[in-house]
Amino acid sequence: MFTLCDFTVEYNKNLLGLDERKPRFSWTLCSDKQNVRQTAYCITVRDEHNAMVWDSGETESDNSVHIEYDGAPLSACTRYNATVTVRDNKRESAQAELTFETGLMRKPSGEFITHTFGERNVPKFVRSFECKKKIQRARLYATALGVYEARINGMRVGDIYDAPGWTSYEKRLQYQTYDVTELLGDNNELAATVGEGWYKGALTWDKRTCVFGDTVAFCAELHITYSDGTREIIKTDKEWNCRPSHILSSSLYDGDETDTTFETPAFYPVKIISYDGNIISQINEPVRVTESLPAKECFVTPKGETVIDFGQNLTGIVRFRVHGKRGQQVRIAHAETLDSDGNFYTANLRKAKCEDTYILNGNEQILQPVFTFHGFRFIRLYGFESVDIADFEALVLHSDMQKSGVFSFSDSRITQLQSNIVWSQRDNFFDIPSDCPQRDERLGWTGDAQVFCRTASFNYNVVPFFEKWLGDLAADQTADGGVAHVVPNVLGDYLTPSSCWGDAATVIPWTLYCVYGDERILARQYESMKAWVEYMRSRSPHDLWQSGFQYGDWLALDKEEFSDRTGATDKYLIATAFYALSADILSKAAKVLNKSEDAEFYARLHARIVKAFCKEYVTDTGRLVSETQTACVLALHFDLLPKKFRPRVLQTLIDNIRDHGYHLTTGFVGTPYLCHTLSECGYGDIAVRLLKSDDYPSWLYAVDKGATTIWERWNGIYPDGTFFEPSMSSFNHYAYGSIGDWMYRKWAGIDCLQPGYKKISIKPYLVEGVDSISCAFDCMYGKISVAYRIENGCVRYRVEIPVNTTAVLELPGCDKTTVGSGVYEFDGKTEASK
Ligand code: BGC
Repeated sequence: MFTLCDFTVEYNKNLLGLDERKPRFSWTLCSDKQNVRQTAYCITVRDEHNAMVWDSGETESDNSVHIEYDGAPLSACTRYNATVTVRDNKRESAQAELTFETGLMRKPSGEFITHTFGERNVPKFVRSFECKKKIQRARLYATALGVYEARINGMRVGDIYDAPGWTSYEKRLQYQTYDVTELLGDNNELAATVGEGWYKGALTWDKRTCVFGDTVAFCAELHITYSDGTREIIKTDKEWNCRPSHILSSSLYDGDETDTTFETPAFYPVKIISYDGNIISQINEPVRVTESLPAKECFVTPKGETVIDFGQNLTGIVRFRVHGKRGQQVRIAHAETLDSDGNFYTANLRKAKCEDTYILNGNEQILQPVFTFHGFRFIRLYGFESVDIADFEALVLHSDMQKSGVFSFSDSRITQLQSNIVWSQRDNFFDIPSDCPQRDERLGWTGDAQVFCRTASFNYNVVPFFEKWLGDLAADQTADGGVAHVVPNVLGDYLTPSSCWGDAATVIPWTLYCVYGDERILARQYESMKAWVEYMRSRSPHDLWQSGFQYGDWLALDKEEFSDRTGATDKYLIATAFYALSADILSKAAKVLNKSEDAEFYARLHARIVKAFCKEYVTDTGRLVSETQTACVLALHFDLLPKKFRPRVLQTLIDNIRDHGYHLTTGFVGTPYLCHTLSECGYGDIAVRLLKSDDYPSWLYAVDKGATTIWERWNGIYPDGTFFEPSMSSFNHYAYGSIGDWMYRKWAGIDCLQPGYKKISIKPYLVEGVDSISCAFDCMYGKISVAYRIENGCVRYRVEIPVNTTAVLELPGCDKTTVGSGVYEFDGKTEASK
């Protein structure tokens, strides 16, 4: 059987509001045969009147990803139907269809309306209208300065939370498209409540308000198409009115205050304000509720507080059923953990209150906050007369990305580690890649995103997510190419740009290109990538970057005695190593994009930086001046050493690890590459030893302490249960989850030999004591999977390779071989597990 499994346009199966003029189609093929290759494809696209707008014709090609639309210009607000038909080398054919709809393809022409009733309650904007004819289709295009929830006739529009999401608002703002056909009747009320969100609400540890603006506003266009073909457009303008809503206040950090007894007061007129930035259609997947977790346990703490445990540290909100007295106030506080006495612990939330308050109306009510989110596993209840845990559920909120990887191990602690990585990704991929979801921070720290992006790409398809954020990264770059510490940049010119953080500009687009074969993202980010390299070049006389502020090996343990967070590795050694990495990436990107002059220029620059690095940081006898784990790892992994010196630096690394009792000391910078370097240099056994250690500092230390997400610090909780300083100790920070990349690429051994996994390498590592693993990853061509089971000195492998790709198999105990698509089983001999 030969089938077309997934047919997508711009990574989506059914896209509404597409503003891309040349959208790209991709599909995956499934077959029960081996060595299947597509030999030809044909794509046709028809508009909603069934007129053909593109016929690619029968195209002989095995290309099945990112095929660019090449037909007549697409019209705005129009539905299109695309069909793809393919043939394979086994003389079979398959077909699939999809529908997409274009967006406004221009700035919405609705005005930005704001309220006129002063600083009280969250405003609600309202417009009433009639529809006198039968409606065929209706779409709402909406955005806000703030975060909005729209309703038509009281019914929620769509399932998106915290729209329009967070962008560098002064430059870019996304609008959303909703199908609202079913919500309209003869007499209608379109309403939108707009909270402060990231636009106006408190941000950063200083809880600065009004960072982007001091006036929330709403902007929308409602397009109604009647059955007789006529159209009507209702826009935000002076015709609307506003009133205070029942949400008394809303804050991302502090929570919502809601008065459900609030009586609708008189209407006020709206005021029109201007917005000069660029308004674009939504690029990334919006934030949605992706799961609901039931409450696990309710108990009274030693302090006498009533606490509910959801069993999982998560990002989201609590929905609950309550039947109280009219005017009764109930409050829900949120926390990640309990302290060593079993009490509710909120010190690490710093100035974020993380509390939702409700005034009840006397009826049975189902309540949840609207414009906030919390990072929590536990909630503390105030003001409830009785508690039934069946009445409480945690709604998990994050960017609704497509899941792409699943990984399980016969060792339950490693399975828990993998789960912790995935949860920290979910919890922090909240429209932007944030550092943490709980304290007064939740910012788009570039370094964190940079170190984690390859791991992230295994667990979920992260292209739309990062594409949108990289657009903001570029928009926020300084005139001389400097990259902000956080994107969107709410810290201003806080400190000069830092290495490793700023390299998000180059590393992330390049990673997306390697993993998804997406050249467009490289093309779009190219100027930003180049500007960042040029920034470093302008500060690097003699090809060494040795000035300005640097985070160093953030949170590394080798400088703990100085209570310094930047680690012991020479900061400028790190800066120059990353300068080399980025110059190399830029040169390769230029090559992909056929910019041959740049490719050569930056290749030469890279060679010069490597030379300068050696002159400055490596002695004539091959000793690295900074002998930390991170310094050795960067020198080896980024290929900065002459071949003859590699063994000595490798030995220094091994000695260092051994001297630390086979423990890591690396921070944000060294951790992602530590185990990779060991595996690549023939010390896979030490990589495994690090991964499997369970005393501090190690990944499993936190797992044994009951972690359900990745901690910010290796020592977040000490062995005796006490905490590291609460001023900076999040229990949900994905950076150290970057070991996930090693687990997929070196343990399961799934790697790409050509961009997008057109050519795959399968080279699993047999880990002593872990008898079986099962790993599957959906690449652009379909499912790659690797599983093995070790029994009595034998290892049985099962490998699956998608149609249209080839794979080089290097399975321990078996001969090396190259295969086409299909499912394969092999048996080999091993001594790995006893
Ligand atoms: C954040 C980090 C970030 C760091 C840089 C912290 O407060 O939580 O993850 O990268 O600051 O200084």
